[in-house]
Amino acid sequence: MKEKILQLLRESDGFLSGQEICEQFGVSRTSIWKAIRQLEEMGYEIEAVRNKGYRLCSEPDLLTAERVQAYLHTEWVGSRLSVLDSVDSTNNEVKRRAETGAGQGLLVIGEQQTAGRGRRGRAWESPKGDGIFMSLLLKPDIAPGHASMLTLVMGMAVRDALDALGVPDVQIKWPNDIICSGKKVCGILTEMSAQVDYINYIVIGVGINVHNRDFPAEVSHMATSVFLQTGKQICRAQIVAESMQRFERYYEVFIQTEDMSALLDEYQAHLVNRGRQVRVLDLKKEFVGVARGINADGELLVETEDGLQFVSAGEVSVRGVYGYV
Ligand code: BTN
Repeated sequence: MKEKILQLLRESDGFLSGQEICEQFGVSRTSIWKAIRQLEEMGYEIEAVRNKGYRLCSEPDLLTAERVQAYLHTEWVGSRLSVLDSVDSTNNEVKRRAETGAGQGLLVIGEQQTAGRGRRGRAWESPKGDGIFMSLLLKPDIAPGHASMLTLVMGMAVRDALDALGVPDVQIKWPNDIICSGKKVCGILTEMSAQVDYINYIVIGVGINVHNRDFPAEVSHMATSVFLQTGKQICRAQIVAESMQRFERYYEVFIQTEDMSALLDEYQAHLVNRGRQVRVLDLKKEFVGVARGINADGELLVETEDGLQFVSAGEVSVRGVYGYV
């Protein structure tokens, strides 16, 4: 019933009277009202005016498999696609499926995550409707030590996708953040199951803030969304597809050399750290220096008083970004 009412509302120019809907479907006004309530709960904005009826004001940006598939033009990324209404963490879900034989290219998207995870054991807030929470399964035949570079490859892909869809000033903060105007719009969490010399599988999880209109006070100085940057409701399915198409292309380049050598220039061109003072919180020590870019192994080169340091992992704060001044 609600699907039929929705169709009528879409076709109608202005208001559609309750009486008209009742006559069309031969049902009571109460059942029409209930269906309208259900549509509102799904995110449709419907104006109800006494003596005029109902008018469809806006439709929710539904993230469904059909919509993603309509935009997705890839060879193998997303060849198996699963969109879940709710999941603990899309990274966890992909791992579970990898353990039971899922193959490279599986893409799992969650409309919401109940236990979304960020780096370093942090939580990743994942409420329904506003964001993109997705994870991709890879089974590359490369040395485990090269796997972390795939975070950089995904970063390039998401950055380019947002840029192509009209988000201004999108940059990469090494190694795993995408930022706009100095605030984080996307985070990437790459996890791996491996033996000493063999990768069983890699999961790359991507969280993008899309329709968020505000953020909790404790993170509002460092978080932003596609909407806050553009003032537009850019379709999430399109962002997913554009990101995955670009990832597939960059991945094919990466896999030729198993490093960043062929992608270096492109990566550096959008690296916010470059030429700026950074504070590195390494596993062992903390130091300050000026970031000079990355090398072919994906390490951040930081010039310090003691010479050039090669940072392969750790927390890196960039002066002027997220309030680090
Ligand atoms: C970070 O910046 O700390 C990384 C955030 C990664 C969040 C994404 S959302 C989809 C996937 N599932 C998770 O539980 N985490 C990643």
